[in-house]
Amino acid sequence: MARLLLGVTGGIAAFKAVQLVRLATAAGHAARVIQTPTSQRFVAPETFRAITGAPVLTDEFEPDPLRGAFPGDPLPTHAAISHLALVENADAFLIAPATANAIAALATGRADSLIGSAYLAAECPVLLAPAMNHRMWHHAATRRNVAQVVADGVTLIAPGSGRLASKGESGDGRLAEPDELLAAVESALSGARASGGDLAGLHVLVSAGGTREPIDAVRFVGNRSSGRMGYAVAARAAARGAEVTVVAANVALPDPPGCTVVRVSTGEELRRACGAAFDAADVLVMAAAVSDFRPVAPAGGKIKKEGRAGMTIELEATADVLAELSAARRPGQTLVGFAAEHGDGALEHARGKLTRKGLDAVVLNDVSQPGIAFDATENAVTIVTAGEDRQVARAPKDQVADAILDRVLELR
Ligand code: CTP
Repeated sequence: MARLLLGVTGGIAAFKAVQLVRLATAAGHAARVIQTPTSQRFVAPETFRAITGAPVLTDEFEPDPLRGAFPGDPLPTHAAISHLALVENADAFLIAPATANAIAALATGRADSLIGSAYLAAECPVLLAPAMNHRMWHHAATRRNVAQVVADGVTLIAPGSGRLASKGESGDGRLAEPDELLAAVESALSGARASGGDLAGLHVLVSAGGTREPIDAVRFVGNRSSGRMGYAVAARAAARGAEVTVVAANVALPDPPGCTVVRVSTGEELRRACGAAFDAADVLVMAAAVSDFRPVAPAGGKIKKEGRAGMTIELEATADVLAELSAARRPGQTLVGFAAEHGDGALEHARGKLTRKGLDAVVLNDVSQPGIAFDATENAVTIVTAGEDRQVARAPKDQVADAILDRVLELR
């Protein structure tokens, strides 16, 4: 997941920015929108607000109710200066559509608008998607301004050719299509990852979700894990520059951006997939809930209830994947396990797992607390290591993921 700041300036192509925001949020990104007053004659801020779930800003002096935070992030305690906080928190800043006027302002570094100020304060990748009439696009002044912003480090998403807004006219100047805009943003993000990020150069293997052990052709022994915590670790690791492989057991969430996802269902499949990827990994984060038992003899068809007053399913123990991988670890690998504990003695049980399974850290979830852990968007954990334990107070899973990755970096 990335934080995308979208600047919308006043052109008829602003309607495509709406589609872009829909695609970006569906792909798991958090988006905030800033608009010029003119652009609001084409698309009302309510439209962007409804899709992003966040207020839209127009003026640099307008207070931001979210104080620069993106959807899913916690509200900062102090009110920041909106244009600086928003762009500081963004992973990418896309201006689409960018009018000839907006490009001229950017080329000369004018800070007399929210978008202009955010542009000057941006340290993340900035992308520009122009849209205008083809004669305006080919004018020497526009050519000069576009060349200037590109020389200043902006990624240009060139306009396409085709029918233009003005009746009967066609040529260059059509805003790139929404899927092209999103692809350009994602490629700028992976470029930024390759060149930086505190996890750059590391390969992180994450298991996520919950395994299903067949009872018959339609029923299984499973658990409540949704994969949210593992996916958050994977997405944050990728956003911080790591190469990420996710082994996903029955996860019904959109793929975390920038990760390779290997889908499995049973514990045995998960064991094989993790085994195949483990040697290349520098860090293993085992967030999947792997069933400890499975039916000894799953039925091939569907078991019928007819003639049965009850039923007993015999279970056998499954392999402990994490313990097996730990036994095969090579020097330089960092291994993190999870422990779902209920109530009393949780810390002692987690500490026991740390030593028994030969791990560097165990992320302890107290699953007796309501509203966190299983299938929730928030979590509160204790990261147990041989050294000092680290408490992570209740927060969105993305932030808990960052805290886990911070601890991994400290341990390496
Ligand atoms: N794990 C595994 N293979 C299993 C079971 C668990 O790799 N067959 C991993 C999980 O992914 C997790 C950790 O081991 O990282 C959890 O350890 P486990 O001892 O199974 O914990 P719980 O199921 O929480 O514990 P228990 O039922 O023993 O209390």
